[in-house]
Amino acid sequence: MQTRVDFEQRADQDSRRESESRTDGAQTRRAAREPFTRIAGVGGALPERVVTNQDLAEMVDTSDEWITARTGIKERHIAADGEYTSHLAERAARNALDDAGMSVADIDLIVVATATPDYAFPATAVVVQERLGMTHGAAFDIGAACSGFVFALATADAMIAAGSARRALVIGAETFSRILDWEDRTTCVLFGDGAGAVVLEATMGTDNGASRGIIAHALRSDGSHRDKLYVDGGPSTSKTSGVVRMRGQEVFRFAIQATVDVVEEVLAKAGICAADVDWFVPHQANKRIIDASAKKLGIAPEKVVLTVCEHGNTSAASIPLALATAARDGRIKQGDLVLLEALGGGFTWAAAVVRW
Ligand code: UT7
Repeated sequence: MQTRVDFEQRADQDSRRESESRTDGAQTRRAAREPFTRIAGVGGALPERVVTNQDLAEMVDTSDEWITARTGIKERHIAADGEYTSHLAERAARNALDDAGMSVADIDLIVVATATPDYAFPATAVVVQERLGMTHGAAFDIGAACSGFVFALATADAMIAAGSARRALVIGAETFSRILDWEDRTTCVLFGDGAGAVVLEATMGTDNGASRGIIAHALRSDGSHRDKLYVDGGPSTSKTSGVVRMRGQEVFRFAIQATVDVVEEVLAKAGICAADVDWFVPHQANKRIIDASAKKLGIAPEKVVLTVCEHGNTSAASIPLALATAARDGRIKQGDLVLLEALGGGFTWAAAVVRW
């Protein structure tokens, strides 16, 4: 078994070798932080039931044409009765562990980003921990609405960099169908259920001479916008869970500029420019927002991973689900530079640069 001393000695050697082999700005920036965090595996999970725009048109006054033209969404997955956020999170976590070739014994931290927890407490992460049969380590939830996955990724990365965790499951999981007003056509057509997960691992080494891992992140929030996208209830206010309320046009306008700002911040931190990015994996809220943001940033459409058409907006799950989709179909490959970005209720917004 590897001891902490072994790890630290190997880490010192690896880190010396790595600093000798670094060539680009991104890798040089990352050199200052040790250990750094690589993504060792990714997995997704979707409920079986698919609800199409046509299905929704039979429930509320809407149409496939309107939803497609305004959002790009064609269908979404909706959880079955008795299928909870923790079930989807557990499935995504198991898929990510398989992809990493690891077992739960290797993990010492679980962070779940969700706005739709199973319960007010315990944290959904703790429920997932129990389902995975894990009684060691720590598990907790993070709430940053649709930006939650990037906030969770940054938190786990910081804990790994600080030496308080070695390998983490970072999960974005949602059952937004449970907090929708199914009579409000302005919101119920937008969202879907699902989960995605990554396995993070502390590493000092290099793979083929190029540092792989989380290079930089940037997190932002501004609570003065909280009445533009929110849930109108909660344990402390209404003693209910409430439903989603949104002033869509205001969110839309804010989202594009905020996205561009936070991406520019993270690119600067990483020491790269937009042209260096191989894959842009944004939060999947609306194809029009994604297209406009990519255009403003100068990222070519063929570098954008789009899943909103099939998944709808799955909030904190959307980025890891998109990562799982693009890794599984072979688009995102080892060594690619991947840019993540999200905006959600609060507002919160965030971005990260990862070398896959
Ligand atoms: O994940 C967190 C971040 N969330 C977002 O980024 C969402 C941001 N906002 C949006 O994506 C868009 O604002 C929406 C997709 C929500 C709405 O698109 P829009 O182009 O901003 O439409 P709108 O709100 O200006 O509504 C235009 C019209 C209105 O009718 P009138 O007043 O022009 O007669 C709405 O009542 O479309 C009507 N409308 C609908 N019609 C058919 C609103 N929802 C629907 C619907 N079906 N589902």
